[in-house]
Amino acid sequence: MSADYQVHGSVAVITLNNPPVNGLGLATRTAAVAGIRQAEADPAVTAIVITGAGKAFSGGADIREFTSPKALTEPTLHTLIATAESAAKPVVAAIHSVCMGGGLELALGCHYRVAAPGAQIALPEVKLGLLPGAGGTQRLPRVLGLEKALDMILTGAPVVSDKLAGTALFDRVFDADVDLLPAAVAFAESIAAVRPLPKVRDRAVAHPDASGFLAAVRERVDAMAGPFPAPRECVETVAASVTAETFEAGLQFERERFMYLTTTPESKALRHAFFAERAAGKVPGVPPDTQPRPIASAAVVGAGTMGAGIAMNFANAGISVTILEMNQEALDKGLAGIRAVYERSVAKGKLTADKLAQRMALITGTLSYDALAQADIVVEAVFEDMGVKELVFRELDKLMKPGAILATNTSSLDVNRIAAFTGRPQDVIGLHFFSPAHVMKLLEIVRGAQTGADVLVTALALAKKLKKTGVVSGVCDGFIGNRMLEQYLRQAYDLLEEGALPEQVDRAIEAFGFAMGPFRMSDLAGNDIGWHIRKRRAIDSPDFAYSKLPDRLCEQGRFGQKTGAGWYDYQAGARAATPSGTVHAMVTQYSHEIGVERRAIPDTEIVERLVYALVNEGAKILEEGIALRASDIDMVYLSGYGFPLHRGGPMLYADMVGLPAVLAAIEGFARGRNGQAWTPAPLLVQLAAANGAFNA
Ligand code: NAI
Repeated sequence: MSADYQVHGSVAVITLNNPPVNGLGLATRTAAVAGIRQAEADPAVTAIVITGAGKAFSGGADIREFTSPKALTEPTLHTLIATAESAAKPVVAAIHSVCMGGGLELALGCHYRVAAPGAQIALPEVKLGLLPGAGGTQRLPRVLGLEKALDMILTGAPVVSDKLAGTALFDRVFDADVDLLPAAVAFAESIAAVRPLPKVRDRAVAHPDASGFLAAVRERVDAMAGPFPAPRECVETVAASVTAETFEAGLQFERERFMYLTTTPESKALRHAFFAERAAGKVPGVPPDTQPRPIASAAVVGAGTMGAGIAMNFANAGISVTILEMNQEALDKGLAGIRAVYERSVAKGKLTADKLAQRMALITGTLSYDALAQADIVVEAVFEDMGVKELVFRELDKLMKPGAILATNTSSLDVNRIAAFTGRPQDVIGLHFFSPAHVMKLLEIVRGAQTGADVLVTALALAKKLKKTGVVSGVCDGFIGNRMLEQYLRQAYDLLEEGALPEQVDRAIEAFGFAMGPFRMSDLAGNDIGWHIRKRRAIDSPDFAYSKLPDRLCEQGRFGQKTGAGWYDYQAGARAATPSGTVHAMVTQYSHEIGVERRAIPDTEIVERLVYALVNEGAKILEEGIALRASDIDMVYLSGYGFPLHRGGPMLYADMVGLPAVLAAIEGFARGRNGQAWTPAPLLVQLAAANGAFNA
């Protein structure tokens, strides 16, 4: 059973019991319905209390059943709610801790609701591209009024129970020192004889000018919802709480719109991202009882672009951090940069002056390696040069205390070689932050051949603590994200050679939904970074072939925004990109030099070539075991590379297009110019033949 039944005096208490948050899965619904029936049949029982065991009243639908037929098996959530609402004896929801989604909808079907203070109340379905589908859109407006209810349904954000005291949502919100269950039982006894039983469905929706208000909301939502249909559907279903002829008709409309939303690609993408984020924290093969190492103090080597941002991450999480630099000037510059970022947050009202002082107090600069020795973790962020990394890691190996984690933020060097500079390769791991490191959500956790399981688990726990999305990658050039990006950029350059201009490529992929096209992105990051990497690659592997266009750009000093010119022109100090006549001439001249006749390239081809280049390389990464699962690749692209959320990441997008169609397109490109870049990944060929999916 996943709900318990007990009788306290004349009150039956049904306790939902399905850890961790009492999700309303089939077993819990069955037990709760049985409990209500049993209470109705027992002449000694005069009232019923429904509450939740442990850390929640109920977090809503059981996510483990989310897409399984179990969700539609009787008793469904609708049946449970109808059973409570139509019970012959009063049903009281006793709410504490977490009451969300289906949990709140169940409470709204009860005759009375009492709550402990501090409970999180929410209808978060919109965040998964859905709407509350078990009466929430019809009942919440009847207790909170149209405006407040719509706000909660459109944002999905939790509101604390105390803030809702005095509304018709709660009959009582108790004081903090009151024990909820005895208080709820006493309340149930006090109302046991009251008839008729109050029902939320019988209440009217309060608003002085519902149609005017709804018109204004429609306009606002149209402007803000972007590609997502759910917010608009939320507005229309909540509107039905006012306009539907009957309550039942409103419920029916809600049900239809809910079912429609479950079929939209946008909702599939959001649900995929939700599960992908949770899956990313799990590593098969790591013993489940592996304990993370404690991280109470940190150190960072290098206070440049990345080192400074990484140090802020630790300080923001309350972890003291020591930053080592080569000389006072570089150290002062790094620390001043950190302070400037915090001061901008204070100016914007996002941080208090006190917090700024607290965070700066956690950050110490040093020029001496000895100051790092006692840190639990050290993250190296010096120049991207194996010789420099070797010096740093040999030094760290000599002085760091035993058990300290030695991490590198390298974006392209071999983590196994770096580990081999130490006598403790089990303690070495890659922590690949993205720029700006204090903002970007993604953290690629690069597992070396000898990285210890406890070090890996510590890195995943640290990612959570730093509020990052940690994704595990094996060792290869570029890891998951940049290895795929290389193929994407190769296509971007080929498209320029064949007839496109930077702004056309950017416009096409931004219309697909990317936050920024490849050329605007390169200008922001600095075109010189890729230039250096390409030069190194050309030395390491002389047959490495790539377009010389971006090199030519760099040879002209066009490094991007920081030099006022890159793929675009920039006004001094401004970020707005203006198409550049110089670049147009350079690109056209280059096509001429290499003997390519420029053609008009349709936007659809641009999007397919860029996105399928990611997909094909992603499939190889998956097949080689560099990524543990397709959804990890999606997480990398959603959280680190601006891939459109409503498309769910490159691998889910390919699944939704259909792998046979993706493969057919890739085979077509393989017959075109520079077709050698398009060898289909064997995994893609195999899955397409079986009509399978990467995210099966
Ligand atoms: P940067 O050039 O801005 O900073 C490097 C800093 O390290 C400089 O301040 C330098 O004085 C210091 N440094 C060099 N050798 C040192 C030593 N022996 N001891 C102490 N300090 C030393 O470089 P950036 O961009 O911060 O990159 C650092 C690392 O992060 C590189 O491995 C890079 O590949 C990686 N990375 C860079 C990203 C980016 O977007 N810039 C993104 C992700 C990783």
